[in-house]
Amino acid sequence: MASRYQEIYQAWKKDPLAFWGEAARDIDWIKPPQTVFDPKAGVYGRWFPDGTLNTCYNALDRHVKNGRADQAALIYDSPVTGIKRTYSYAQLLAEVNALASVLKDFGVAKGDRVLVYMPMIPEAVIGVLACARIGAIHSVVFGGFAAKELATRINDSEPKVILTASCGIEPNRVVKYKPLLDEAISLAAVKPEKVLILQRPQERAEMIGGRDFDWGDLVVAALAERRTVEPEEMAATDPLYILYTSGTTGIPKGVVRDNGGHAVALCWTMKNLYGIKPGEVFWAASDVGWVVGHSYILYGQLLYGATTVVYEGKPVGTPDPGAFWRMIEEYNVAALFTAPTALRAVRKEDPNAEYLKKYNVAKSMRTLFLAGERADPDTVAWAEQILGMPVIDHWWQTETGWAIAGNPVGLGALPVKHGSPTVAMPGYDVQIVDEAAHPVGAGKMGSIVVKLPLPPGCLPTLWKQDERMKESYLTEFPGCYKTADAGFIDEDGYLYIMGRTDDIINVAGHRLSTGGMEEVLASHPDVAECAVIGVKDELKGEQPCGFVVLKAGVTRSPIEIEKDLVKLVRDKIGPVAAFKIAITVNRLPKTRSGKILRGTMKKIADHDPWTMPATIDDPAIMDEIMAALENKGF
Ligand code: COA
Ligand code: AMP
Repeated sequence: MASRYQEIYQAWKKDPLAFWGEAARDIDWIKPPQTVFDPKAGVYGRWFPDGTLNTCYNALDRHVKNGRADQAALIYDSPVTGIKRTYSYAQLLAEVNALASVLKDFGVAKGDRVLVYMPMIPEAVIGVLACARIGAIHSVVFGGFAAKELATRINDSEPKVILTASCGIEPNRVVKYKPLLDEAISLAAVKPEKVLILQRPQERAEMIGGRDFDWGDLVVAALAERRTVEPEEMAATDPLYILYTSGTTGIPKGVVRDNGGHAVALCWTMKNLYGIKPGEVFWAASDVGWVVGHSYILYGQLLYGATTVVYEGKPVGTPDPGAFWRMIEEYNVAALFTAPTALRAVRKEDPNAEYLKKYNVAKSMRTLFLAGERADPDTVAWAEQILGMPVIDHWWQTETGWAIAGNPVGLGALPVKHGSPTVAMPGYDVQIVDEAAHPVGAGKMGSIVVKLPLPPGCLPTLWKQDERMKESYLTEFPGCYKTADAGFIDEDGYLYIMGRTDDIINVAGHRLSTGGMEEVLASHPDVAECAVIGVKDELKGEQPCGFVVLKAGVTRSPIEIEKDLVKLVRDKIGPVAAFKIAITVNRLPKTRSGKILRGTMKKIADHDPWTMPATIDDPAIMDEIMAALENKGF
């Protein structure tokens, strides 16, 4: 089918308000918005400012009312525990009502924050939907973060209640959540009033009297009593959630998502970008702690009347590299969304896709979507070849909540160009600019910006930090949102994302701040100064590598200190940082004005061509860096 993309994109460009006003019809509003966009409200304007709705109602109740009560809403498949369970829309609604009533008993009201620290289990979905139902703002924290990161998020979001489980399960270990949580609460200046804990059989959490409550006792009782809670009427502009993401320092950014724009944008993508029909299974093999998990495990499918999947496992090792293919066949998955790193992991273990031959994925699956990091052409070509179906890269960020650029399968796919996430989605006027904010020509590299306003679903601001929102994203390129990605647009309008312009790195599809890691390394008593860079990694795309200069007079062996540093990052940021390489050097290469030359160090470590920076203070230091890297096997 010929793609309708151009027609739709031009229709949006011609009349954005009509476009989003029309898209908003897919939502059940309590008060339908009379105004589509108010450019004077908020930091850069607000969407649907006079509309009211409830996101949970749109995700559950309306489908139950409209004939989907018995349709699968959520499939839970957990190879790490051996459990499989499917919830119909009616069952999920009952569970959400039960938890919402417990939260109300706890005194949680509209606008209160609830922190959700949960593994990939259905209760994570139930938890966030219960918050949405009563108008509480949820903040989900990824399970792979350490106590200090959790404490930072507790301090910033000031949750009244925390929802958690006794443990998460990684293939090689049980991750005890409760000690991490207790440590985080003791580190945090702000204390939650109550903690509701789901006890899992793999690990029983110790309860603290008066503060900790058993999910099993309270929610099961509420469920047995069939308790229900009326969905709270929320302004479209009220926050639905806060999701923290790495900034350039150790202090994460609290990305705010509103209720109305979010619901409208996600429904639009389900149909037009992903080409999913209500009732179909769309599986995002991500984690509820990331934005992909928020948009396409927690919300998108449910808002649209499709089926979501909570998969508690990995692409490989649970039990083998056929895990994804087994899931697709077993649940008739229409489209899978994963990160390129997961495919690289599968390919590494099963290069000839022998496991794929055991399953019939083609009976249901039409498309594979990739995002989270650059999709390297080699991996895309391999996936296309083994699957024999379109493999679609698309580019987005925690901040945007949905794809800035993609290939809109629902509108008719455009030809795929390897290395490109295709074209800007309606809502996004994407431009490549130079340092003076002037647009550059086709094929020329520059900073990627989006002309304001951002479309519905994107962050209206950072939690309680309008100024940081402006400084981080809106000041450098006036009138535009700075994506902090660099790239180019080719003569056909295809976008290419080549890397970040800040110190964020992407490790196994996880966004991490090297600045945050440097703060941790610098806190070690023996470290005088340090620099962390992301070096190329075949599996994870990038891996962090820390260079440290020790203080004068330190007598401990560098090897011991390097081990300390690896442990310190794991303890302070978490295992997800995947920080495994610390290298002691005598000096760091700097410019004459004292700026560390991280970019050149990265090129050397990656074996990319490099030239000696003209501004370098002492060129001999580069030889020392090369020798240190060689010593570590680079
Ligand atoms: N809770 C606790 N620990 C976690 C965790 C969680 N939810 N998720 C990951 N970790 C731990 C891992 O166990 C690992 O610990 P280890 O150092 O003891 O081995 C560490 O964090 C690093 O994890 P990761 O970088 O994910 O590596 P891995 O070797 O466990 O798995 C992949 C490699 C490629 C299979 C995995 O990274 C993957 O599936 N990535 C896809 C990412 C993704 O979906 N991103 C979302 C964007 S779409
Ligand atoms: P996150 O906020 O965790 O989703 O990370 C967003 C960042 O990941 C982006 O700014 C990009 O640097 C990178 N990214 C995400 N998707 C892609 C993609 N399809 N191609 C290239 N980079 C991507």
